[in-house]
Amino acid sequence: EKGGWDSFMDKEIHEDPAAVQRTLLGRLDKNGDLNLDEVRIEEHELKAIDKIIVVACGTAAYAGQVAKYAIEHWVRIPVEIELAHEFRYRDPILTPRTLVVAISQSGETMDTLMALRHAREQGSKVLAICNTQGASIPRESDAVLYTHAGPEVAVASTKAFVAQITAAYVLGLYLAQVKGAMFRDEIQATLDALKAMPRKIQWILDTQAATVRKAAEQLTDAKSFLFLGRHVGYPVAMEGALKLKEIAYTFTEGFAAGELKHGPIALVDEGEPVVFIVPPARGRNVLHAKVISGIEEVKARGAAIIAVAEEGDPDVERYADIVFWRPKCPTLMSPLVDVVPLQLFAMDMAKLKGYDVDKPRNLAKSVTVE
Ligand code: F6R
Repeated sequence: EKGGWDSFMDKEIHEDPAAVQRTLLGRLDKNGDLNLDEVRIEEHELKAIDKIIVVACGTAAYAGQVAKYAIEHWVRIPVEIELAHEFRYRDPILTPRTLVVAISQSGETMDTLMALRHAREQGSKVLAICNTQGASIPRESDAVLYTHAGPEVAVASTKAFVAQITAAYVLGLYLAQVKGAMFRDEIQATLDALKAMPRKIQWILDTQAATVRKAAEQLTDAKSFLFLGRHVGYPVAMEGALKLKEIAYTFTEGFAAGELKHGPIALVDEGEPVVFIVPPARGRNVLHAKVISGIEEVKARGAAIIAVAEEGDPDVERYADIVFWRPKCPTLMSPLVDVVPLQLFAMDMAKLKGYDVDKPRNLAKSVTVE
């Protein structure tokens, strides 16, 4: 069942490239137009959508947070992301022009299901991004976009995360098409960039796994980790932190790198491991410079710097103690590669500590209670 891997998590991380690829498969019809799986929303209603609210929990919520950056950029409508269990109890503003997007691997998460029911009662349309055919969440939604990651068995979500980002990007491009927010060739070029990602993820798996393993060996006994990123690197940092706490039972905190000076830097002490998601270095990327200055700040306080960065980034080479390299790709695509070494790192740490990586304590694969 594990296909030669010694854990499902191992197998599923190695299926990251296929999860992205399969989720993109068959999305274009013969006219070159994008298609979703099931859309029971009228075209004029879709055109009128003026706000998106993503509801999800845990890893799925981080995928939604990544998608916010892309969809706002492409479609030019506001995208809010909210934890499903918070959404329902705060009297959210929902209209028939709000599209609620429920992201769920299992399709059975009770918090997310209750949030979507609430949204529909208020007259909003709900689109599900789900990995499980016919589950409750897609069944109760107005439209469905399936992630084709294949069954995910390990409790910690890995391949589903990259598939969720991919599906949410397809949704963004679909809305851009319907609303005429992007030119056809821009949509095509973005899809081409997405299609190039499975190969880049594979490159990480092939070339960075040994470095990741060595880092885990060096850091097995670390008591805590900080994970920092900006822009799309922010939710990736949160996800990296979640993976490590979830299966290696290590205290982690993920936050926006810009917040460092507003409090968290007080935690940084000699030897504290700090993981930075560094944005692409090309051009005069202002985000890159900001993240590098964050690295300088914590380095000056003696932290151990672990960076996820673009191949050959000279600033990172100068400051980081350990680097997980990513191949060049556009900023909006970078989460699909950047999360991969963090998934591997969490798994290696958990294995080195002797834990069952597929079945972490206290957790269930699908959370069917509110
Ligand atoms: C983390 C993890 C959880 C789930 C969350 C939502 O590794 O697996 O945080 O992402 O419980 O589950 P789904 O996507 O099934 O709704």
